[in-house]
Amino acid sequence: LQTLPPVQLAEKYFQIFPEERDPLWQNPCHDKRHKDIWSKEKTCDRLPKFLVIGPQKTGTTALHAFLTLHPAITSSFPHPSTFEEVQFFTGPNYHRGIDWYMDFFPFPSNVSTDFIFEKSANYFDTEVVPKRAAALLPRAKILAVLINPADRAYSWYQHQRAHQDPAALNHTFHQVVTAGPSSPPELLALRRRSLGPGAYAAHLERWLRHYPPSQLLVVDGALLRSNPALVMDGVQKFLGVTPHFNYTQALMYDESKGFWCQRLEGGRAKCLGKSKGRKYSDMAPETRAYLTGHFRELNMDLLRLLSRLGHPLPGWLREELQSGR
Ligand code: A3P
Repeated sequence: LQTLPPVQLAEKYFQIFPEERDPLWQNPCHDKRHKDIWSKEKTCDRLPKFLVIGPQKTGTTALHAFLTLHPAITSSFPHPSTFEEVQFFTGPNYHRGIDWYMDFFPFPSNVSTDFIFEKSANYFDTEVVPKRAAALLPRAKILAVLINPADRAYSWYQHQRAHQDPAALNHTFHQVVTAGPSSPPELLALRRRSLGPGAYAAHLERWLRHYPPSQLLVVDGALLRSNPALVMDGVQKFLGVTPHFNYTQALMYDESKGFWCQRLEGGRAKCLGKSKGRKYSDMAPETRAYLTGHFRELNMDLLRLLSRLGHPLPGWLREELQSGR
């Protein structure tokens, strides 16, 4: 039997088991052996009961804001440096471990009735996330917000313009989406980020390899935008959260914003910031036609997937497939 100082021992261990370099965190309370050595000071209750996974630009911030109005629903704390999403399951944060993750959540006052959640909109289409999320949060409910992928792509392009991305500033949206394989890499990267997440069925199938369909809700993002109270009723039912919260009273349509906002006392509205619900011109009809063609099969895949699961079809999907025939 041989031993070594801790760091060398670790190096030796990972030489022998290189596949374990990349951890897969599980809930310590789901395994007796882990629970026994888990500090008495710690709890496994500071973990989300559900995740809003995105994709980006579909209305995830509005859903997040509306959810937090519910008295029994609490979001993760914002990231201390970015004031934004936790993004635990995607990039380098995952290697910071579950204590780091748990610190983003409050201690629930009542584990069975409190609903803690987090929203990270790039979880939806990031390859590693479903496997990691299911290892730590096997019972979590998963909410994906979907809009017409052509509109999502256009919103992403506008978002990148607002963030001064040179590829978006120097090219029209039509040039971006129709860019051929010999185009400059930054243009191809923008095309990929505009169109890639819109292959909705492929991304959902990856989630469904790790979660049962009963734990997945596809939220119609177009309906969330036009009739959020109706959507929030469905979301509450899916989550099984009580008491029932009346979003018809809590929300109001703000004419100048052109979106639904939180109703404050005195009839004032608290809307999302300027970066949500941007004003820009309509998509050019020829670009719309190009994208309808580009997404037709991918939207058909989504139709087949949702039909197979017996999940309702978003209105925009029906319309898109009818208009594209
Ligand atoms: P645009 O700014 O392109 O219109 P996300 O929060 O996932 O990034 O999505 C942003 C999109 O949410 C906005 O895209 C907007 O269309 C949509 N949205 C839906 N409901 C909204 C609301 N009540 N207030 C602001 N934006 C909303």
